[in-house]
Amino acid sequence: MTAPRGEAPGQGQGHGHGKVILVGEHAVVYGHRALAAGISAGITVTAAPGAGRLRVPAWQLDAAVDDGSEAGRALAALTRRLETPALDFTADAAIPSRAGLGSSAALAVAVARAAAAAMGRPATDPAILAAVAEAETVFHGNASGIDAAAAASGAAGRFSRADGWQPVAVRQTITLCVGLSGRPRDTVAQVSAVARLRERLPAADGVLALLGSLAGDGERALALGDVDGLGRILDVAHGLLASLRLSSPELEVMVHGARAAGAIGAKLTGGGGGGAVIALAPGHERDVLARWRVAGYEGFLASIPATVEAA
Ligand code: MEV
Repeated sequence: MTAPRGEAPGQGQGHGHGKVILVGEHAVVYGHRALAAGISAGITVTAAPGAGRLRVPAWQLDAAVDDGSEAGRALAALTRRLETPALDFTADAAIPSRAGLGSSAALAVAVARAAAAAMGRPATDPAILAAVAEAETVFHGNASGIDAAAAASGAAGRFSRADGWQPVAVRQTITLCVGLSGRPRDTVAQVSAVARLRERLPAADGVLALLGSLAGDGERALALGDVDGLGRILDVAHGLLASLRLSSPELEVMVHGARAAGAIGAKLTGGGGGGAVIALAPGHERDVLARWRVAGYEGFLASIPATVEAA
């Protein structure tokens, strides 16, 4: 049930997708492009008249707009921007929090869409993305906006600060192994570490530019269905990210384990330092997941569906 604008709110539902960054994390903060995809696993939120509470049972999160917590402040920013009446939000989260899969953006998109639906506003209301951006600023400081755009889109796209999110062609469905290091990532800390490195080492800018240009190569590989080429791009991107000290012992074990189990490319995804890795292992996906499990890491499969007919 939804309410027309100006009337008492009803109930509303909204969904936000988790995301993987294929290439270009961190580079995108400095204006370069990145290639990412929303994944089917995400977060569904139900909004109902209430008192401004947010509950995410899967994350043991229970926050309120006025409790001063990070989630509470993000909720306050979001609901202020959307001018919602008092609503309570309950989230069903199928992705872990702080795992490099865009959980905070997926939650913000789902909450904003649920609030809009409860107020009878269209899912395309531009205020939704503006509200999500404000919530993401609470979580991530200088966020580029890529996580929010991917969470809203649910498909593959290229993102830059200048051009926003642009859908990209995918000739052949890509199946990715997504591995969870179990160490929570801290995107703000990782983005700050790169900023400090740039001050001391001008060559870091060249590495970031290279990552942006690899995102363009990745986009071409997706459009051509060049899965081998995409694998090599993931490997090179991981090496570049590791050179910026964005990897961790756990992420290295997972990347090398994936390659040993047959992956043709593997890299950390998202902020790094912890969080998640992705691996491209056509025909060996189960081997990669098994290898990770033996090493103590959970994983799952995510697919980026083809958008164009293969020739
Ligand atoms: C985080 O998913 C991606 C980063 O590039 C930060 C951002 O773009 O906001 C590390």
